[in-house]
Amino acid sequence: MKIEVGFDYLGKGNLVNFEKYQKKVTEINETIKNRTGLGSDFLGWYDYPSRIDEKVIKSIENKAKEFRENYDVLVVCGIGGSYLGPRAAIEALNGIPSSDKMEIMYLGNSLDSNYVDSCINYLKNKKFCVCVISKSGTTTETAVSFRILKNLLKQQMGNDFNKAIVAITDETNGSLRAEVKSEHYVAYDLPRDIGGRYSVMTAVGLFPMAVAGINIREYIDGLKQGQIDFDNDKIKENSAYQYAVERFYLYTKKNYPVEVLAMYEPRLTNLKEWRKQLFDETEGKDGKAVLCASCVFTTDLHSLGQFIQEGSKILYETIVYVSKPNKDIEVPLCDDDSDGINYLAGKKLSFINHKAYVGTLKAHSESGNVPNITITLDEMNAKNLGYFFYFFMKACAMSAYLNKVNPFNQPGVEVYKKNMFHLLGKKGY
Ligand code: PA5
Repeated sequence: MKIEVGFDYLGKGNLVNFEKYQKKVTEINETIKNRTGLGSDFLGWYDYPSRIDEKVIKSIENKAKEFRENYDVLVVCGIGGSYLGPRAAIEALNGIPSSDKMEIMYLGNSLDSNYVDSCINYLKNKKFCVCVISKSGTTTETAVSFRILKNLLKQQMGNDFNKAIVAITDETNGSLRAEVKSEHYVAYDLPRDIGGRYSVMTAVGLFPMAVAGINIREYIDGLKQGQIDFDNDKIKENSAYQYAVERFYLYTKKNYPVEVLAMYEPRLTNLKEWRKQLFDETEGKDGKAVLCASCVFTTDLHSLGQFIQEGSKILYETIVYVSKPNKDIEVPLCDDDSDGINYLAGKKLSFINHKAYVGTLKAHSESGNVPNITITLDEMNAKNLGYFFYFFMKACAMSAYLNKVNPFNQPGVEVYKKNMFHLLGKKGY
């Protein structure tokens, strides 16, 4: 298991002198370990992989098996950190669409009546179960969708509706925890010292993944390996810290305010969304930070690609490339070559995608003058994904501390909520 990070600044290679940043990185590494930095109450994720309780894993596996055997669809109901992780993991590992696996749907992440109505109508003819995830238990998007889902479950199952629900929430506090008690839902804890965007290593990720048929023990092995490998304070031996330092260098020394994260596979779209949330919600404070935007290539080469190549020079690219595909398909030969692509006949799509990657990197960096960071993963499987998640979480904590912001709060998110509650007439607003 290995994640390699490469950096090229406008054809000049890696300009970052890691030695110069070593002292600072060692200090921050100690701060994380000893939990003495800003927001350290939320550093529970740091060693959580090695602390996951075997009893909880077993219980999750058993309940997931029951759901898989008795229902057609699992609805994951949550928003932000309480939904993006499991979605990213399930789509990255099972692919989209995935016809041979249990169907997973996502609600509670929007207030759009069209989307919610379509989903509810679809579910009317299905046997479905629900995994509701909310640490606070008070998030409006999640609570509204959950109430609508419960209504439908009650119509379908009567008093047994609670058997089709698993809740993941704070250990003791909040209205969802209170409902767990009154309605006797099976529930798992979202530890108080782990924030939403770091929660994919807890039941928040584990339960939906297990229902989707993913081997969560392999995934946990990857997380554990990440905990060990990315604990090393030596930048040259720690790819997560290399990445954090390269970002910091581009932001502070070369004035790049935007990072475009690009991946070459649509199944990784929500992995990008998870990563985007992780960095933007963690770092975007005190008038600072690099905006993390994202693209799927080659799709977006036909839209944003123009801007990247020739638009204003405000961004650098970070490309995540998975070397080995899980599945492959060959371009067939066509007798009359009417579409003119017989020169590709017999070639695997993964081969063509790789050439697109190499050609694009060259175009953007050499003639487009766009700096690039490359992150290479050998293969996407459950173990590697756990490792990959931990890589980004550790890099993000380091990056936020380099920028001197609290990585673990999100005070800005409250502003829209207050306005919305006021407009909706909620008591106290
Ligand atoms: O990462 C975070 O902390 C946020 O995105 C939260 O996960 C999100 O706001 C949902 O909150 P809650 O789990 O309390 O419903």
